[in-house]
Amino acid sequence: MRIRTVYRLFLGVFLVMLMLACSSSTKKQRMILDFNKGWYFKLGDHPNALNADFNVSSWQEVTLPHDWSIAGDFSENHPTTVAGGALPAGKAWYRKTFLLPKEAVEQIIWIEFDGVYRNSEVWINGHRLGERPNGYSSFKYDLSPYLNYGDEANILAVKVDNADQPNSRWYTGSGIYRNVRLVRTEKIHIDHWGLFVSTSQVSQEQAQVDLEVVIKNEGLVQRHLTLETRILNSEGLEVARQTTKETVLGNQHAEIIQEIKVDNPQLWSIEHPYLYQVETKVYAGIQLMDDLTTPLGIRYFKFDPENGFSLNGQAMKIKGVAMHHDLGALGAAVNKRAIERQLKILKEMGVNAIRTAHNPPAPELLDLCDQMGFLVQDEAFDVWKEGKQESDGHIYWEQWHRKDLEVMVLRDRNHPSVIMWSIGNEIPEQYDSAGISIASELAGIIKELDMTRPITAGLNENRPGKNFVVQSASLDVLGFNYRHKDYSMLDNWYPMMNLIAAEGMSALATRGHYEMPSDKIIRMNSLEKESMEDEDYSISSYDHVSADWGSTHEETLKALKGKDYISGVFVWAGFDYLGESTPYPFPARSSYFGIVDLAGFPKDAYYLYQSEWTDKPVLHLFPHWNWKKGEQVDVWAYYSQADEVELFLNGKSLGVKKKEGDAMHVMWRVDFEPGSLRLVSRKNGEQVLERQVHTAGDPDKVLLTPDRRELSADGKDLSFVTVSVVDSKGVLVPHADNLIHFEVKGAAKIAGVDNGYQASLESFKADHRKAFNGKCLLIVQNNESKGEIVIRASSDGLRAAQTTLTSD
Ligand code: GAL
Repeated sequence: MRIRTVYRLFLGVFLVMLMLACSSSTKKQRMILDFNKGWYFKLGDHPNALNADFNVSSWQEVTLPHDWSIAGDFSENHPTTVAGGALPAGKAWYRKTFLLPKEAVEQIIWIEFDGVYRNSEVWINGHRLGERPNGYSSFKYDLSPYLNYGDEANILAVKVDNADQPNSRWYTGSGIYRNVRLVRTEKIHIDHWGLFVSTSQVSQEQAQVDLEVVIKNEGLVQRHLTLETRILNSEGLEVARQTTKETVLGNQHAEIIQEIKVDNPQLWSIEHPYLYQVETKVYAGIQLMDDLTTPLGIRYFKFDPENGFSLNGQAMKIKGVAMHHDLGALGAAVNKRAIERQLKILKEMGVNAIRTAHNPPAPELLDLCDQMGFLVQDEAFDVWKEGKQESDGHIYWEQWHRKDLEVMVLRDRNHPSVIMWSIGNEIPEQYDSAGISIASELAGIIKELDMTRPITAGLNENRPGKNFVVQSASLDVLGFNYRHKDYSMLDNWYPMMNLIAAEGMSALATRGHYEMPSDKIIRMNSLEKESMEDEDYSISSYDHVSADWGSTHEETLKALKGKDYISGVFVWAGFDYLGESTPYPFPARSSYFGIVDLAGFPKDAYYLYQSEWTDKPVLHLFPHWNWKKGEQVDVWAYYSQADEVELFLNGKSLGVKKKEGDAMHVMWRVDFEPGSLRLVSRKNGEQVLERQVHTAGDPDKVLLTPDRRELSADGKDLSFVTVSVVDSKGVLVPHADNLIHFEVKGAAKIAGVDNGYQASLESFKADHRKAFNGKCLLIVQNNESKGEIVIRASSDGLRAAQTTLTSD
């Protein structure tokens, strides 16, 4: 075992050296190295690990991004509490050894961390580089002064301290849970986050691309430099170029401004997220010193007090959802493909905007939003000086808030998807005069770095004159959370202000669970433990349950209708997330607020949004059709692009229905008899769509439905395999909870399992999972090899299933 570890260590070191050496010999450009592999990890405090002679042979080898909490067991006794996901946190160390070629001594070498939760401290070769309390902040350290070259190894040590708890109202994860890169540049280089690209005067005929570039000369002598910028279209063809000359003294920097015109620009939009690339090169004489490529979206937008939001001159509603950062069974460990899947599911639902609740996201989320066409409200804080939890961000507010906010703006301001900066969510200081001074200060920090985007916040107090953050006059867009009954007053209360429903709904549901009568609206807050004897910790998935400060989905959607002055809404929440299991105590440990469950399976409300937020014909019939004979069952349907729907039970019509008044669904109250329900939608008398639900028999076999059959062999790519328990005719068995065992062979491994049940205490990192309401999820991850991936799923008494994917 020991020999293997040592061997791997050397192999890792050798490979890094090889990569560094190969890329360093001739080229002068920037080198960006994925620095995620070959780390060693151990829970607990190990201060000696920063010493070169420390032995890590007993440590676990891990590849970043890494979240140690997600592999833990659930317990209500963990200090994270149920709000934080009831998973363990604590302290841990990471360590990595690497070599650098001798010629790198002439270079500047820094390390970039996209985020470490939390309280990280970093050492290189025993030198302490710094600390970063905020777990969502990105940061970099210059390693150059402390590095060894040639065959003398470098030791990076990272301490992560997530022991102070509770520190969050949702699951955070623990560890180096986002990507890490090593960057090598020449002494003359573009500063880290030192390039800002934005657009102005955009029309169909022409756009101006505004560039601010900070070039550093870390050498001793003055250099005559040339900055060459080329704008390339999506085919890689140059559409504009500009060259600027500048002399930079030794150990100085220069800020260069360029204004570049692009004729007939293709505009970036939700439907057509067209991206140019800005290629920036810095030369000293004819020698290339640094180069950077930055995606560019040319677009303009506006918030208007009367007409709401418009993009490129076209009025549009912001149809948004709030998302926390966890990826269900994968925890907080960032995986681009997992984020992409979430966004794809949301796009299909009609979502066009994401609110990054309540912290800056992983950069990959913003890259994907740029590429896939989503608008983003990028959010900095859930608390300022006054906390919501004993050890949340308020404890380091004084020292770190400026830096944390600056970093968000500097890092994210080049993304066309980002359209607003949020300085906070439901900040306690909105009720206190400190709200005026802090909001003004934060807005000032942002405006110094980016004048192109409005500033907003998620506020609870909406009454005029009562909210100190509003009074600070530092918000360009007033974002109000909940209180949908007040929407009709907002234009009177704030006639001159841009408005958005920054958070709404907080409806509650468990996928596949139904309780009658479905037309009785239920508001829930918290349920007492004593009353939980027979509780199954499930909430009805008809849209009739919400948190008592919120509303059903339909209630808020109705309240928004016809109010042009409200730019749109962010629904709480797009996906279920770990933690905040309101209204239930443990064993509930994840949220009920999602329109999509934690495993990524849509709940019924998904189709309500699809029918309201997209133009495609929608027809959704629920619930399942397995009830007791004679039981009265409410049958609901969501539909769109049709005039009417007709329901049949075992061939007999139960009547034609149309949505009445402002209703967004139709309902029949039906005496159950086994068999099948058939629903058709019609437009002008012609059938548009048909849906059927059949009474299922006993569980008979397992079905595997991967969302992707071809994986790339990059060690990161995932396939999300839906596992269904069906009867002998292939009908989903709606209450099936069979335990399914998985075997994955070949070019992949199991990355996680889940079933979306909010109170399951099974581990996410296992080779088995119980189905919940007929389904569970298996996530497989390529293991860097190419070839076949054979997945087998078996369960006692059921016919097994097998499917084969490939990796290339
Ligand atoms: C809001 C809060 C969110 C979440 C939600 C649950 O008030 O901003 O973070 O807690 O309630 O309903």
